Amino acid sequence: MRENLNVGVVGVGMIGQDHIRRLTKVLPGSAVVAVADADPERARRVAEDVAGARALPTGQDVIRDDAVDAVVVTSWGDTHEEYVLAAIAAGKSVFCEKPLATTQEACLRILDAEMAHGKRLVQVGFMRRYDAAYRALKEVVSSGAIGTPLLMHSAHRNASVPGHYTSDMAINDTAVHDVDIARWLLDDEVAAISVLVPRRNRRAGDLRDPIFILLEMAGGALVDVEVSVNIAYGYDIRGEIVGETGVAGLAESNTVVVKREGSFSGRMPEDWRERFVRAFDAELQEWLIAAAKGTATGPSVWDGYAATAACDAALAALRDGTRKTISLRERPSFYARP
Ligand SMILES: NC(=O)c1ccc[n+]([C@@H]2O[C@H](COP(=O)([O-])OP(=O)(O)OC[C@H]3O[C@@H](n4cnc5c(N)ncnc54)[C@H](O)[C@@H]3O)[C@@H](O)[C@H]2O)c1
Repeated sequence: MRENLNVGVVGVGMIGQDHIRRLTKVLPGSAVVAVADADPERARRVAEDVAGARALPTGQDVIRDDAVDAVVVTSWGDTHEEYVLAAIAAGKSVFCEKPLATTQEACLRILDAEMAHGKRLVQVGFMRRYDAAYRALKEVVSSGAIGTPLLMHSAHRNASVPGHYTSDMAINDTAVHDVDIARWLLDDEVAAISVLVPRRNRRAGDLRDPIFILLEMAGGALVDVEVSVNIAYGYDIRGEIVGETGVAGLAESNTVVVKREGSFSGRMPEDWRERFVRAFDAELQEWLIAAAKGTATGPSVWDGYAATAACDAALAALRDGTRKTISLRERPSFYARP
C-alpha cells in the first residue's frame, strides 16, 4: 500500500479544479503530479498553482506517465470512456466523474475491460451516496421503519446552468444523479422510464426545461424526478420516500434558521459545490484509500452502466414520447452488491 498516491487529473475545469483543491489542501494521502486539459493554457495555469504538478499535452500522456499512480477523470462526459479505458489498460485506479460514459454501449466496453483486468479499478463520482442526509434517509428505509417503499419524489433544481449546457444534459448529466440515488436508496434497478415536458420556463432560452421523469423500478416502486435547471432561487435537492406506514425525506440542508419581521428563512446553497462539499470530500477519501491498495470501492462501473442505460432510455422516451423498457445485462458476480 502506497503512503502517498501520485495523482494525475484529466480535465481541469470547474470540478477538476475543485477536486485538485480537495486532493492537495483537504485530504491526506495524495499529491497531484500531472494535469492535462483540451485547453492547454488552462492546464498550464492550473499546474502553476500546484506545487510539483506538470501540465502535459494530453490526457493520454497523463495516464501513461510513470510518475502517475492513479487518475482522476473530470473532463466532459463524452470523453470519459477513452480515459477510463486507458487507465484500466495501464492498470491504474481511476476516479471518474459522472456520467461514467454517455451511452450504455460505452459503459459496457468499460465494464468488459475492468472485468478482463480481474479486479475493480474504477469508482464513479456519484457523490450523493456519501451525503450525510441521503445516508440517514437510506438507514431509515433499510431499517423498515416506514415499511416497504412505494413511491419516491426526487427534485433536482439548479439556479442556472452554463452556456454549453444542452437539453440532453438535463437527463444524462443532471438526472443521472437522481437515477443513481433512487437505485441506491431502493436497492433496485430501473425497469421502465417515461418523460413528460411541461410548459417551458421562460428563463430557459432554447432549453427544454423543466422536465418530469417517471422511473418504474423492477420491484414495483415508482420514482418521479423533476429536473429544473433555471429556477433562479438556488440549488435545491429534494428527496422523499413514501412507504407503507410512513414517509421519510431529506430535511432542509441549512443549519441556521433566521426568524424576523413575521417570517423565517434559511440559506439556499448556491450550487453543488456548496451543497455536497462534505460528500465530495468523503467520496474522494474513500477513493484514495482504495487506490493506494491498487483497487477501487464505492459506486462501480455497474452503477455507472445502469444509470446511463436508464438515461439512454429516457432520451429515447423524450424523442418519441413513449414509455421505454430497460433491459440490463445480467449483473455479474464481479459487481455483487456489497
Ligand atoms: N458530481 C457532480 O455533482 C458533478 C458536478 C459538476 C460536474 N460533474 C461532472 O464533471 C465533469 C466535468 O464537469 P465540469 O463542470 O468541471 O465541466 P467544465 O467544462 O468546467 O470542465 C471540463 C474540462 O474538461 C476539459 N476537456 C474537455 N474535453 C477534454 C478532453 N478530451 N481531454 C481533456 N480535457 C478535456 C475542458 O476543456 C474543461 O476544462 C462532467 O462529466 C460533469 O458531469 C459532476
